[in-house]
Amino acid sequence: MCGIVGYLGNKKAYPILLDGLLKLEYRGYDSAGISTIENNHISILKDKGRVNNLASLPDINKLSGTIGIAHTRWATHGKPSRENSHPHMDNSNTFSVVHNGIIENYQELKNFLMSNGYHFISDTDTEVIPNLIHYYYEIDKSNNNRFLHAVSSAIKNLKGSYAIEVICKLHPDTMIVARKDSPLVIGKGNHENFVCSDIPAILSYTKSFYLLNDGDIAELFVDNINFYNDSLEPISKELKNIDWDTSAAEKDGYDDYMLKEIHEQPKAIRETMGSRLKANEPCNFDDLSLTEEYLKSINKIYIVACGTAMHAGLATKPIFEKLCNIPVFVDIASEFRYRNPIIDKNTLCIFISQSGETADTIAALKLSKAMKAKTLAITNVIASSITREADYTIYTHAGPEIAVASTKAYTSQVTLLSILAIYFAETLKVDKEEIIFSLKNDILQLPQKIESILKNVNTIKEFAHQICTEHDIFFLGRGTDYSVAMEGSLKLKEISYIHSEAYAGGELKHGPIALIENGITVIGIITDANLVEKSISNIQEVITRGAKTFIVTNQDLGNHTFNEVVRIPDINPLISPVLSIIPLQLLSYYISKAKELDVDKPRNLAKSVTVE
Ligand code: G6P
Repeated sequence: MCGIVGYLGNKKAYPILLDGLLKLEYRGYDSAGISTIENNHISILKDKGRVNNLASLPDINKLSGTIGIAHTRWATHGKPSRENSHPHMDNSNTFSVVHNGIIENYQELKNFLMSNGYHFISDTDTEVIPNLIHYYYEIDKSNNNRFLHAVSSAIKNLKGSYAIEVICKLHPDTMIVARKDSPLVIGKGNHENFVCSDIPAILSYTKSFYLLNDGDIAELFVDNINFYNDSLEPISKELKNIDWDTSAAEKDGYDDYMLKEIHEQPKAIRETMGSRLKANEPCNFDDLSLTEEYLKSINKIYIVACGTAMHAGLATKPIFEKLCNIPVFVDIASEFRYRNPIIDKNTLCIFISQSGETADTIAALKLSKAMKAKTLAITNVIASSITREADYTIYTHAGPEIAVASTKAYTSQVTLLSILAIYFAETLKVDKEEIIFSLKNDILQLPQKIESILKNVNTIKEFAHQICTEHDIFFLGRGTDYSVAMEGSLKLKEISYIHSEAYAGGELKHGPIALIENGITVIGIITDANLVEKSISNIQEVITRGAKTFIVTNQDLGNHTFNEVVRIPDINPLISPVLSIIPLQLLSYYISKAKELDVDKPRNLAKSVTVE
């Protein structure tokens, strides 16, 4: 969940490292630090607080080195404090390390090192790494590449996940990096090299990247990089070009990334559709090779993910079931992985992850593969970890998503899964041409329809101001509107810190109505003509008990006394989540702004949850 950056070249390292950290802050932001090497000495500057706090420390300009490592932290072991901030050094101040991940056996390693005379300053798991490197460096004096061998020997002892960068004052022209179950990429520049946990951090310096696999180690110099596998055998790596536009990772005039990303949804969805969807042609997933015979052989589909990505699974379960007649189970990855799910070669498991790095989702995928199910990953990040594990990968192509609260990734995921459901139905040759034709047209119109919602935000803004001081808000919906209620409620919690609950309309009388009292806000989503009367009855029931109501709908609701109604364009309820979520994203956004909170970096959260 932490962000890491590294630089070696001919320029001063610290401004490049700070710039990278600022772009990575969404990965964690409770402390930050930098180490550089100058005159065979490692300097460290670190503190709790955000990257801007680090940048304002008086000594920052003294970091003159041209090789350096940097970190922005999301605390796991040890509270946010200067001592627990990275980089960490070994006892002899020879090695400096930044780490993303969790060392599960750190206590055992700490005991071992303490019995060998080492002491520890921080409460972190990470501090064992530089000391372990020092330990191996000292016992392997005859080796002619001691630094590399010491790092390799040290990481062989680590259980858990890590992406590390290591520098050593005795090897001032070298950086060693390694990864296992945590993201790490290397950017190649002109007489300079970069390292980062996430591509946007260095996109303005290079678009050429080497991707490390689990177990890989790289030894970097200014003009050269050597790659090794976990047995330290040399391996070669292909240089990949990532054609993300640099401005995609900038705010581009918007106040916050979240607002920018909300407004990018029409574009993101056009990119997601790409060449896959045309009104009068079968959907195109050439990269998938899932045959009619295979699809006929599967007896269930599992969609497994976390957070918003899991809500995208819930939103699209109905379209798969309706079009393909295959039962779909949607599960939370952290539950699925420990539940002995009943899956086999006749199960297709679809994993959704914007980042492609979520630890639980990747673990669930590995489990499914071991149980012989076919695995399909849907991700937004090219060459992310999940893509290296899955049998098949399809990309949402939504562009980088920086705000912690996911918006455009969700609508792109729902769009892509809906197109996938149509593709499966076409491959299975189901006799549903009429609905497929109309759904395709509806999906093709999504970008314009989102644009029209984004033009009329005043009602949403006003309502946000009315309810921004509340403590409890309820969301109600039926069918796909229920899945949107859950996603709307999650958005609200994430960025406004208002407690909220989402309920299926039919569940209202089974408990939650007891919580409705005078002045409580209830947000209803109503987009399915077949369920409109039932949903209105639920809303009436809460109005009778004094609730204030905010309704997102494309239905004719007749004369009712709702406080606010936001009309969205008409669309098939199977894909209405892509439209009905937009007012709810905006509502959360404006509430957060009205409360003067940090929209992009909400407290305690991080964008990629790369640890359990
Ligand atoms: C975190 C993020 C959410 C995201 C979830 C899953 O909780 O804050 O926005 O939905 O992780 O992330 P993924 O990258 O797997 O979609």
